[in-house]
Amino acid sequence: MQIIIVKDKEELAEKAISFLLKRVSNLTIPVLGLATGSTPIKLYAKMVEAYKQNNISFNHTKTFNLDEYVGLPKSHPNSFHYYMKHHLFTHVDISTKNTFLPNGLTKDPDLECLRYEQMIKKFGAIDLQILGLGVNGHIGFNEPGTSFHTRTHVVQLNEVTRQTNSKHFQSISEVPMKAITMGIGTIMDSKEILLLVSGKEKRTIIKKALYDKITIDIPASVLQYHPNVHVIVDEAAAKYI
Ligand code: GLP
Repeated sequence: MQIIIVKDKEELAEKAISFLLKRVSNLTIPVLGLATGSTPIKLYAKMVEAYKQNNISFNHTKTFNLDEYVGLPKSHPNSFHYYMKHHLFTHVDISTKNTFLPNGLTKDPDLECLRYEQMIKKFGAIDLQILGLGVNGHIGFNEPGTSFHTRTHVVQLNEVTRQTNSKHFQSISEVPMKAITMGIGTIMDSKEILLLVSGKEKRTIIKKALYDKITIDIPASVLQYHPNVHVIVDEAAAKYI
């Protein structure tokens, strides 16, 4: 595991974009795994900038998002469909048919999860998965206690997660109770993982995830098993590592 400590969010995004550009440039059809949350927003802005400066084209890129809330329409400002359009997809040359997110409005969630897994398999595997970290150690929406073997599935969101994410909603009662997320097994099948961690509220959990024992109580600790993980952490989050 490679751990890179940077000064702040800006440097984190700069390191992340140069990493991503290097990886993508070697691939004919890059398959990217994307995350939401506040941490990767600056990286997406840098991807847009790189595209506008002709340093990258997303013409042949396929993207798979980690997760989506159940029950929010794609047009809802808090849906991850909306987030991705707003921060990345509408600003670059990626075709909608190449961007995949779980459908949170599906009538048959189990079938939707299966369909999502099959879609990823259709393109082989995710070449580079961008990950953020929940304050409770979740990756995607895989909450503490999730088996490391899970594939894409429906989750009941943990109260810590609903509370944390309520900052993006008017009130906690509006935060969906469920989500569809890639499983930990799905994430671990990615060829390479780039974990981005920023802010002092992540300092305890990132230390546990990277250096303490591997346990389903800290889902991100599973990354210690992955042969190709890079972690970019800003100073605020890196206090104990
Ligand atoms: C969300 C997402 C995760 C994300 C995490 C951290 O709940 N499902 O994919 O990594 O929370 O978000 P942030 O970057 O805002 O701290």
